[in-house]
Amino acid sequence: MYQVPLPQEYADLTTQEADARIETVKHKMGSRLVILGHHYQRDDVIKHADFRGDSYKLAKDASSRPDAEFIVFCGVHFMAESADILTPDNQRVILPNLAAGCSMADMANLFQVRNCWKQLDALPGIDTSRIVPVTYINSAANLKAFVGERGGTVCTSTNAPTAVAWALEQGDKVLFFPDQHLGRNTGVRLGFDPDSEMCVWDPFKPLGGNSPEQLVAAKFILWKGHCSVHARFSVSQIEQARSRMPGVQVVVHPECELDVVKAADLNGSTEFIIKVIEASSPGAKWAVGTEINLVSRLANQLPDRQIVCLDPQICPCSTMYRIHPSFLCWTLENLERGEVVNQVIVPPKVKHFASVALERMLTVCA
Ligand code: 13P
Ligand code: SF4
Repeated sequence: MYQVPLPQEYADLTTQEADARIETVKHKMGSRLVILGHHYQRDDVIKHADFRGDSYKLAKDASSRPDAEFIVFCGVHFMAESADILTPDNQRVILPNLAAGCSMADMANLFQVRNCWKQLDALPGIDTSRIVPVTYINSAANLKAFVGERGGTVCTSTNAPTAVAWALEQGDKVLFFPDQHLGRNTGVRLGFDPDSEMCVWDPFKPLGGNSPEQLVAAKFILWKGHCSVHARFSVSQIEQARSRMPGVQVVVHPECELDVVKAADLNGSTEFIIKVIEASSPGAKWAVGTEINLVSRLANQLPDRQIVCLDPQICPCSTMYRIHPSFLCWTLENLERGEVVNQVIVPPKVKHFASVALERMLTVCA
């Protein structure tokens, strides 16, 4: 989304100046303001967050402060939209930089997903009323609404197995978007065969690039989307880490490819990765397949453990990185003056069914 340029006064701020001004506004606004921070945010941003978490935890935290007039979401656009959907209209959700999107979420849009559904509906042997759509939370609000309207649910990397198992109890097949890897890893974890029971839907090809027989046989139709950060991790990086650091444990995010997840010792959401490393003993060695800000923070916080990123070329989430302390300072000082900038508003029509899908997730995966 378009972001108006930062006024020069803010662009020129040093980190220390921005820090001090952010803290001043936080102090003045008190309980009127709550700041949420995703684990991939840089230290200079996340230190100001009242709540830190992965996308599942933050979706719940967003509704845990009904007294807050403003929810400033240091994350990416789909997270701010989810917060807006899950909170009453009197709470306003702000994204400090509107250009902080998610390249994976952008890989599926409503037009493409509707078109996929229409093609499936026209196929003999497929009954779309028996297909349950599941969207990863990393998706636009109108896709959440698409899912909510058709009896499906949202999932996050924390709860994907529960959400997908539930979906398979409601119908015969799952249409999973936009992350093929989370969909495939989840299906495999639930005991399905990635070769014979899953196919990939390429939105740029007729029938997604599949034969009618493949689509009829598939239990999982996986959208051809991926995360550009997590797709970088490879099995050879894991092999190199194991030979370089004998005794190392490898933990990766389930947005990584199936082979990478299989070669790792553990996989789970960012919250899971943090918990498992924090619970390990001093001296433990970890090679981690997720975003570099989180890995570096863990390494700094736990100096008695050896914690490295699997990818020797650092791999930040470039869109999360757009939440710069100067943007945070600019949005907060505007709020304090009574001027709301960068509010994320999901239109009421979309909100209704998107809320059905998100609430379903919170109930099914509670
Ligand atoms: P979680 O925070 O749910 O682990 O997801 C990671 C991610 O890619 C956020 O966009
Ligand atoms: Fe999107 Fe990947 Fe960044 Fe997460 S890490 S916000 S999935 S681009």
